[in-house]
Amino acid sequence: MKRKISLNLSWVMLIVLQFTLLHNANAQQKEKMEDFVKSLMKKMTLEEKIAQLNTDQMPIVEPKIDASGTGGTPPVAFDFSMDPIERERKSQESAMKLRVPVPIMSGRDVIHGFETIFPIPLATACSWDLDMIEKSARIAASEASTSGISWTYSPMVDIARDPRWGRIAECAGEDPWWGSKIAAAMVHGYQGDDLSSPNTILACVKHFALYGGAEAGRDYSTVDMSAGTMFNIYLKPYEAAVKAGAESVMTSFNVVNSIPATGNKWLLDDILRKKWGFDGLIVTDYGSIREMMNHGVGSDLKDVALLALKAGVDIDMASKGFSPKILKALLDEGKITEAEIDQACCRILNAKYKLGLFDDPYRYLNKERMKNELLSEEHRSFARDLAARSCVLLKNSNQLLPLKKSGTIAVIGPLGNAKDDMLGCWAMSTNKETIVTVADGIKKVGGNNVTVLFAKGANATDDSYLLKYGKGRSFDFGNKKPQPKIAERSAEDLMEEAMEVAAKADVIVATLGELASWSGEASSRSDIIIPESQKNLLKALIATGKPVVLVLINGRPLTLTWEDANVNAILEAWQGGTEAGNAIADVLFGDYNPSGKITATFPRSVGQIPVYYNALNTGRPFNESDKYTSKYMDVPNDPLYPFGYGLSYTTFTYGDIKTNKSNLSGGETLEVFATITNTGNYSGEEVVQLYVGDPVASISRPVKELKNFKKIMLKPGETKTVSMSITIEDLKFYNADLKYDWEPGEFIISVGPNSRDLKQTKVVWVK
Ligand code: NOJ
Repeated sequence: MKRKISLNLSWVMLIVLQFTLLHNANAQQKEKMEDFVKSLMKKMTLEEKIAQLNTDQMPIVEPKIDASGTGGTPPVAFDFSMDPIERERKSQESAMKLRVPVPIMSGRDVIHGFETIFPIPLATACSWDLDMIEKSARIAASEASTSGISWTYSPMVDIARDPRWGRIAECAGEDPWWGSKIAAAMVHGYQGDDLSSPNTILACVKHFALYGGAEAGRDYSTVDMSAGTMFNIYLKPYEAAVKAGAESVMTSFNVVNSIPATGNKWLLDDILRKKWGFDGLIVTDYGSIREMMNHGVGSDLKDVALLALKAGVDIDMASKGFSPKILKALLDEGKITEAEIDQACCRILNAKYKLGLFDDPYRYLNKERMKNELLSEEHRSFARDLAARSCVLLKNSNQLLPLKKSGTIAVIGPLGNAKDDMLGCWAMSTNKETIVTVADGIKKVGGNNVTVLFAKGANATDDSYLLKYGKGRSFDFGNKKPQPKIAERSAEDLMEEAMEVAAKADVIVATLGELASWSGEASSRSDIIIPESQKNLLKALIATGKPVVLVLINGRPLTLTWEDANVNAILEAWQGGTEAGNAIADVLFGDYNPSGKITATFPRSVGQIPVYYNALNTGRPFNESDKYTSKYMDVPNDPLYPFGYGLSYTTFTYGDIKTNKSNLSGGETLEVFATITNTGNYSGEEVVQLYVGDPVASISRPVKELKNFKKIMLKPGETKTVSMSITIEDLKFYNADLKYDWEPGEFIISVGPNSRDLKQTKVVWVK
């Protein structure tokens, strides 16, 4: 016994020693960095320091560096006719020729892959595979860092409860707990354990804050939110990313408590810097200093630049608010101090130092790595795996799926043979010829016994308004994005061809959804249906009487009430990236049994929005026999597919849940046990979800909140008991005084395959 205690003590001492050594080493490194940056700044003139505070994220063809171009990113680098490495080398060379050479830190929106494109973030969130999500960021960083990029404007960790908002594609969906896990994993994926490695890059958490709360889902529109929702839901993932060590944060376009985020001292200084201890750099979103004038909080650029600098912004992206002229004028008027400029400059130089750019400004240019890594077999095969795991099976009546690898399959629909539309938003640098279409994937995976036919069947839309505004960006960094074409052929002509092809098929795979340009920035929709032109095609295909599988390619949840009632099988494949077609085929043929679960609610109709699972209760919950309860007269309250929903080719049965204790106190840990059996015919993975409800508290609390999950693999007939823990950390929330704590009492513990179909038990937890 004694020996055991002394052994344990030696372990503890060893751990303390290791911790102290690490702490001291970090402190020494920090001191070294501070000394370096201090002595560098002593050599710099005011103008040279101000130049650091600017970045211009615009496609300017000629590499040119001037005094205002040595900041966060250079005003260069989007001439895609130039070799990317040479282009970046030229910029860096110019920066290193300046009077006081300061290397450029080149930033880019590397959002879901660089050259190897992964599914959109909303899709990867549905994989419930944190390791894979982190690895996707790791690969993106590794690929991007071969061609000079040392900073990515990612992860986007905004919470989105409104699928009309096009940028829901770029985030993890509606849940703060899952969103926080993903935020931390992505930061670690990009930055790794050692930021100075030549294949790790600076992460940038965005858009701080509440950007996803845009009213009516219209991008850039205003945000108006209670303090409770802000702190308990929306701010959580940003905080998690900061705590995970993110070195930079991007402000958002919107107002927070009526003050634009970019000039909001309370948000950037009191919360981000002081409360959360963030000491990295803050960059504005594109032009957001200038836009503060439109918000009505300043009459000229000088007014708003002052607000931004005072709030704690370090880098102005593209507003020209931190120009030498404006900042010097503010200095002359005594409104700002040189110390404030020094502080911002110092944070930027710290970031460059941490990246190792002062040791070797060309360290992120590597032809050899570029050749070996970009679109390598390994990266592509990982992308395929992740894309398959991001697919969500929404319906599968009569076990229509998986398909047999024989017979004739007709791929019909505007997205069946589309390349660029597989990528979704922000896939800037990739070569579209490398993308696998659905038809090609089915051909390849189906093998020689499958005949694959294709017909477009319909235009993605014939709606002139959507055609006009759904065109995508006016520039696309050299890589032309899909531009919806006005029908080259008439709807009748396309339909006739589709019917001829359908007549030859044993099974029809209808490939419908959205073009890539219909989601992402500035791409909101007021209705989230499959457009009429495509719906008409679907109706005609169903009318043939042949089995129809609907494969959806899209960047947001859609309203699928009609489809759910009329189609036997629906696979939500999202925009799956470079390997989309292969991954979809893997799932359709059952080489991979789908396990994805949606992380954003699919409403029945657009009128239900916002509809999300972690809502507060109402004083009049719906009651069939009482008219005066909360409801619509024309549609049920619940969504079509709830958060966490997704099917498999096999079936899982949940037994009653058990806990290690039903009465707990203080810091005890609750273990929740759930027994799951695979009652179907295929091996498959299941995402077992745990939710906690706090029915009586000092403020109204969400009916349930996701607090843990386990992803398990079960063979047919196999049973497993999973165990998931809950501690008081999971019970904490911000109360009416914004104090973060938990309140004792009864808690409802639920486990199940989604946020709706849950088994429950109760525990009592006292302080
Ligand atoms: C505006 C977008 O809101 C932001 O996400 C992006 O990082 C910047 N533009 C830079 O491209």
